[in-house]
Amino acid sequence: MSVTFKSLETILDQYPPNPEHLISALQDVQAKFSYIPKEAMTAVCDHLGVPVSRGWAVATFYKAFSLEPKGEHEISVCLGTACHVRGARNVYEKFRRDLAIPGEEGTTKDLKFTLRQVRCLGCCSMAPVAQIDEEVHGGLSQRKAGTLLKQFRKR
Ligand code: FES
Repeated sequence: MSVTFKSLETILDQYPPNPEHLISALQDVQAKFSYIPKEAMTAVCDHLGVPVSRGWAVATFYKAFSLEPKGEHEISVCLGTACHVRGARNVYEKFRRDLAIPGEEGTTKDLKFTLRQVRCLGCCSMAPVAQIDEEVHGGLSQRKAGTLLKQFRKR
């Protein structure tokens, strides 16, 4: 979603120009765009009378805020020990290849998926495991990973 003046104005209209609304306004920006775009941060800080550097400090501190665009679906592949010994790296590479993610982690160009690594999802008995949005999928193989991607592309 592009950052338009109108979409920002709708958010800013809800807050009187007071620094105490910084976190709430940033939460609205995060909900609207799935991350904090630079233009939005500048507009929010200008409106509330907060230095932009403070805005970024807050956004960096809280995990709820993303500074990069995020995909519609978030895939977290576990590379913890139990998953690793059962072939999680191959599963991870399958996701990475099919999504054409150039680095180790990242978001697809169409903003459909974000792929990331995690170190234990707390369900080691189902290894290898990946979480896609709220769903946990265990016993993964490269083939199953491919099938899951096809299913989520349609959602
Ligand atoms: S190591 Fe993967 S879920 Fe625990």
